Amino acid sequence: MKPEIETLKKFMQPCPVWLVCSEAPNGRLNVAPASWVTLVSYSPPMITVSLKPDKDTALNVLAKGWFTISRVPFSLAQKLHLCAKPLPRGENEADFADLPIRWAEIDGKPWPRPVQSIAWAGCMMSKRGTMVVGDHLLVVADIHTMEADGVAIQINGASSDAILYVAQGIYGCLGVTGRVKPF
Ligand SMILES: Cc1cc2nc3c(=O)[nH]c(=O)nc-3n(C[C@H](O)[C@H](O)[C@H](O)COP(=O)(O)O)c2cc1C
Repeated sequence: MKPEIETLKKFMQPCPVWLVCSEAPNGRLNVAPASWVTLVSYSPPMITVSLKPDKDTALNVLAKGWFTISRVPFSLAQKLHLCAKPLPRGENEADFADLPIRWAEIDGKPWPRPVQSIAWAGCMMSKRGTMVVGDHLLVVADIHTMEADGVAIQINGASSDAILYVAQGIYGCLGVTGRVKPF
C-alpha cells in the first residue's frame, strides 16, 4: 500500500534536526530547519541534505555553493520552529525568530551559525553537486569545517541536549541511553 505523507513522516520520526544557514546573492542571511540531513561519507567527510527546490535555502545554496548546518539545544525549540515560517523571499528568519547569529571566519571565509549552537559544520557543495529526487533537490556537500564537541552523548544517566524533531510542532531531546552487550 502506498503511504500517505503523514505516515511517511511518522515512520521517520523522531529524527535530528539542524538549522541550515545560507546566504542570498544580495548577502542577506537565511535560516531554515532541515531534518533530511545525512552523513554519506567519512573520508572525505560528506553529507547530503534534501531541500524543497523552490525555497530560499535551495536557491541560496545553488547560487553560493555553501551553507552551514547547526545542532541547537532543546531550549531553542520555539526559535527553531519559527525559522520554518515561510517568510517573503529575502526576509531573514533569524531576525523574525530573534535568533542571534555569529559569523566565524575560518580559512578566510566567514561562516554563520546560531550563537547558541552546540555543534555546527560549514559545508561546500561538492563536485557531485545536486540531484533532483522526486519533489526535492538532493544537495551533496563536503564538510569543510566542523565543531562538534557539544553534542557528545553522556552515557550513564545524563542525556544529550541536542534537539530532536518528534512530530508536527513537537520537539524533544535524548532522555535515555543504554549500553548493549558487545558482539
Ligand atoms: C522540523 C522541521 C524539519 C524540516 N526539514 C526539512 C528538510 O529536511 N528539507 C526541507 O526542504 N524542508 C524542511 N523543512 C521545511 C522548511 O524548514 C520550510 O519549508 C522553510 O520555510 C524553508 O525556508 P526557506 O524558504 O528559508 O528555505 C522542515 C521544517 C521543520 C519544522
